[in-house]
Amino acid sequence: MNSIQIKDKSFDIFINESKILARIKEMAMQITSEMKDKNPLFIAVLNGSFMFTSDLMKELNFLCELQFIKVSSYAGTQSTGKVQEVFGLNQPIAGRNVVILEDIIDSGLTLQFLGQELQKQNPASIQICSLLLKPDALKVNLDVHFVGFEVSNEFLVGYGLDYDGLGRNLKHIYQLA
Ligand code: IMP
Ligand code: MG
Repeated sequence: MNSIQIKDKSFDIFINESKILARIKEMAMQITSEMKDKNPLFIAVLNGSFMFTSDLMKELNFLCELQFIKVSSYAGTQSTGKVQEVFGLNQPIAGRNVVILEDIIDSGLTLQFLGQELQKQNPASIQICSLLLKPDALKVNLDVHFVGFEVSNEFLVGYGLDYDGLGRNLKHIYQLA
């Protein structure tokens, strides 16, 4: 399937499954060499990161822990503007080496917020690992330590990424045609 249609939009294949998995193996090697003796706590951000998290974790052969969280954002009052909240982090992270797993970083606002929230608990370290990064879309200064692919600002779908809730199940990554 080189092209797909989701609702009103057409998408062309952009990064196929074998290329994604090959890159994840490389990322796993880097993570292993840097983290294997640190009992890291991986914190995966739902929903988009579920597929990446699964494939990455299978490549890690050392002791580590995994938690899934959700960052929800909703419109607050006029004075508070957009409110964000972290759900599901039900274990202490003080003193832990935390690695945040994300599918894609666009403006970086979600991860900036999440980083600030996690920092309040005094972890030993926080590193960000994202399969995809849109460097030209970043609105904040964010240090992304492990990156799979740097991509342009085009909208992507598949491999966990959705368009209006659809397309997360696709095994390849597609780009808006
Ligand atoms: P940020 O806070 O702007 O960095 O937003 C990151 C979140 O926006 C990601 O976790 C995705 O859920 C979503 N997102 C950003 N770019 C895309 C895209 O190209 N396709 C699908 N979702 C995206
Ligand atoms: Mg996401």
